[in-house]
Amino acid sequence: MKVAVIGKGGREHTLVWKIAQSKDVEKVYCLPGNAGTARTEKAENVSLGDDSFKGIADFVKEKQVDLTVVGPEDPLVDGIVDHFQKQGLNIFGPDKKAAIIEGSKIFARKLLQKYGIPSAEFKAFEDAEKAKEYLHEKGVPIVVKADGLAAGKGVIICDTKQEAEQAIDKIMVEKAFGDAGNKLILEEKLVGEEASYLVFTDGETIKPMVSSQDHKPIYDGDKGQNTGGMGAYSPAPVVTEELEKDILETIMQAAVDAMRKDGRPYKGVLYGGLMISDGKPKVLEFNCRFGDPETQALLPRLDSDLVPILQSCIDGNLGEQEVNWSSKPACCVVMASGGYPGSYEKGKEISGLEEAAKLPDTIVFHAGTKLEDSKVLTNGGRVLGVTALGNSIKESIENAYKAVEKISFEKAHYRKDIGQKALDRSL
Ligand code: AMP
Ligand code: GLY
Repeated sequence: MKVAVIGKGGREHTLVWKIAQSKDVEKVYCLPGNAGTARTEKAENVSLGDDSFKGIADFVKEKQVDLTVVGPEDPLVDGIVDHFQKQGLNIFGPDKKAAIIEGSKIFARKLLQKYGIPSAEFKAFEDAEKAKEYLHEKGVPIVVKADGLAAGKGVIICDTKQEAEQAIDKIMVEKAFGDAGNKLILEEKLVGEEASYLVFTDGETIKPMVSSQDHKPIYDGDKGQNTGGMGAYSPAPVVTEELEKDILETIMQAAVDAMRKDGRPYKGVLYGGLMISDGKPKVLEFNCRFGDPETQALLPRLDSDLVPILQSCIDGNLGEQEVNWSSKPACCVVMASGGYPGSYEKGKEISGLEEAAKLPDTIVFHAGTKLEDSKVLTNGGRVLGVTALGNSIKESIENAYKAVEKISFEKAHYRKDIGQKALDRSL
């Protein structure tokens, strides 16, 4: 069969890498992909002149693609699945009505409240002055969130009232995130340790992935600005066996059931961003897709073929599907361009990729890269997701950093403490 994967980041290279290993797959089209997907066996990068939903649908019809997999949230929230389904095209991911679980934080919060799923206390606003009144009533710390999609930047954690007022103005008055800031929420600040928990679902049944943890801030020790994610590892020891059961039942299955009862059956990957406080999980956010960089640490641990799992989510028979995971932990260290998440330069030549990939149990996933005259150049903020497996979390971390040391490009930046929280727990 032929598969198309939409997107160009580290998550998408990982999806392409895993899908290309399926015995049923003869070809993977990467729309548009990166240098890593360009060099993946069976895969081909395609830059569409027209990358609208229609343009993408026309392409998959012309190439007789059997399955399309969507990486990022924006097309899902904008209804690419509905567009494909109307034309009888086979596509993996939630439709527009279901993807709203990520597309509107107010929707997600109200759903959680209605169905008693544990989360932070919140209030929604359409008016900046009313939001400020509530802020003065509640006090700080408080979290200010734009309602809509803001490329991971719409959440501002405020420790002073002045910061919170500025955040409200930034979102609602200055419209820093455009229409995503027409509404906002003020939310209780949760403290604890974060974890990501992703499941496959066909709208009724869920099949869990293994636990993982992202590292959002740019610097070691979780200092500095938030980024798209500077690294991940799996499993996350903060998610104990007992907690995992609790998460699956009271959060992930409960959310899938809630969506179905609300007339929005959810098919695809549901990503729970969780805060674990005193051994209890609460929802920080839901995402309607695979996580980035969690996917880079998760899919190398998936022993089963991914393609039949994706298809059974679409067909509604996920219950019959085996989803087996390796017991070997994995760690992904993101190498970023100097300056990221602020402004950075592109076009720097990357060296050492082959040497790194030769190391045992190591896979270098590409994110912001491009091929030019057979050279691999940087082409984005997050450049590579250097990933390794090991017999323990410690070994997977050491293996990932051994590979990182082989790779260089001008002004490369990476965190030196990916996985440290897991190591601290095992002491
Ligand atoms: P979100 O996009 O909602 O996941 O928010 C991005 C990041 O902001 C999360 O991964 C957390 O680090 C942080 N965050 C979001 N909501 C809260 C909250 N209520 N309390 C503390 N931190 C939060
Ligand atoms: N790792 C955070 C995200 O995928 O949204």
